Amino acid sequence: MEMNIEEIVKQVLAEMKGAAPADVAPAVKADPAATAAGEIPKTAHVAVLTALEHFDIKEYPMPEVGDDDILVKVEGCGVCGTDAHEFKRDPFSLIPVALGHEGTGEIVKMGKNVKVDTAGKPVRVGDKVVTCMIFKDDPEITMFDLNKKNVGGADVYGLLPDDDVHLNGWFSDYILIRGGSFGSTFFNVSDLDLDSRILIEPCAVLVHAVERAKTTGILRFNSRVVVQGCGPIGLICIAILKTMGVQNICAVDGEQKRLDFAKKMGAKMTVNFKDHKGIEALAGAVKDAFGGHLADFAFQCTGSPVAHANIYKFIRNGGGLCELGFFINGGDATINPHFDICSKEITIVGSWVYTLRDYVTTFDFLKSAKEIGLPMSELITDKFPLEEINEALKTNLAMTGLKIAIVNK
Ligand SMILES: NC(=O)c1ccc[n+]([C@@H]2O[C@H](COP(=O)([O-])OP(=O)(O)OC[C@H]3O[C@@H](n4cnc5c(N)ncnc54)[C@H](O)[C@@H]3O)[C@@H](O)[C@H]2O)c1
Ligand SMILES: [Zn+2]
Repeated sequence: MEMNIEEIVKQVLAEMKGAAPADVAPAVKADPAATAAGEIPKTAHVAVLTALEHFDIKEYPMPEVGDDDILVKVEGCGVCGTDAHEFKRDPFSLIPVALGHEGTGEIVKMGKNVKVDTAGKPVRVGDKVVTCMIFKDDPEITMFDLNKKNVGGADVYGLLPDDDVHLNGWFSDYILIRGGSFGSTFFNVSDLDLDSRILIEPCAVLVHAVERAKTTGILRFNSRVVVQGCGPIGLICIAILKTMGVQNICAVDGEQKRLDFAKKMGAKMTVNFKDHKGIEALAGAVKDAFGGHLADFAFQCTGSPVAHANIYKFIRNGGGLCELGFFINGGDATINPHFDICSKEITIVGSWVYTLRDYVTTFDFLKSAKEIGLPMSELITDKFPLEEINEALKTNLAMTGLKIAIVNK
């Protein structure tokens, strides 16, 4: 049944491509506005999660582009853990929903009122953009708010309820960024390559976490830092620390391949928790890795309550912890408040998503990471075309790769 639907979708997409002039390169580089406008097809294709573990590629009429709106031809979109949760269980009860929030693409049409992005940078047809949060109900929020107000209650494209526009997620070939009172925020990121643009959203999570960590006053150039968990989140954490000049990074995970990647990202030492029986032995291994010292600071980058309970044992008296591993509820963790927090005077910060300002910092981080040769692109281990979205999500759930992405042809 599923195969049949996928076959039909492939056929429809193939037919569509045959008819559209989009693949024909213009002989002369004409005015981008005119060129792009000429290429806009009558319909758009959106991967809609219509049932648990099943996307259908739906075809919708191309919407009107209002005076404040932007029509974007999607180039690619990362698959996030949140997409995987929606695919498997629909915890936010959004089905039918157009998923995909780590997307990027090229502006093909703009309303007459659109002149600059959310940071005030000029935009024109042909520019590459990403979207950030949607602040429908709070016009007070600006670029420069650094407090929590920035993230509470915001929406994002790719997790919006379906409506009559339908082009609400980045797992698609076109998306409409709605301006005016809709509250969209977006950024011109034409100076970043496609892989970097696909990685912006997860990287912003870590830029925010490191900003939160800095508020403790404990994280410094010469700090000994543990990064626990080397999935995309932990690996990007290491890359950001490395880009900032932090040298003494110890990565902890149970997967040797991920620990090897952590070294390429800038970890000086690695500890495989599977090599050590019990938390005392594991903490001893971390201490040995730092030449007989516990960590000054630790980042908890797993969704495991056991990992949260363990991490205190890696931190010195007076040290700091940034807990960012629980984007959603992962259950309770058991700690001993006396030994783990009070008597050691640990400073703990929690971190959840990011602010608009973190997004802009992330663009600079991605450029710096490239300049110092960090293999950021290698984080994207699997690329699928839109019509193979079901496979992409299954690959994400199988956890055989790191970042899975949809990349349009
Ligand atoms: N704070 C936020 O805003 C935010 C945003 C996105 C994701 N997250 C969270 O970050 C976490 C990590 O995301 P990811 O995409 O890297 O996930 P992932 O599952 O790919 O990686 C987690 C890693 O942790 C390792 N691990 C598991 N138990 C461990 C333990 N006891 N000790 C050491 N390592 C252990 C696993 O082997 C794996 O490599 C998720 O739980 C996610 O919910 C938080
Ligand atoms: Zn995400």
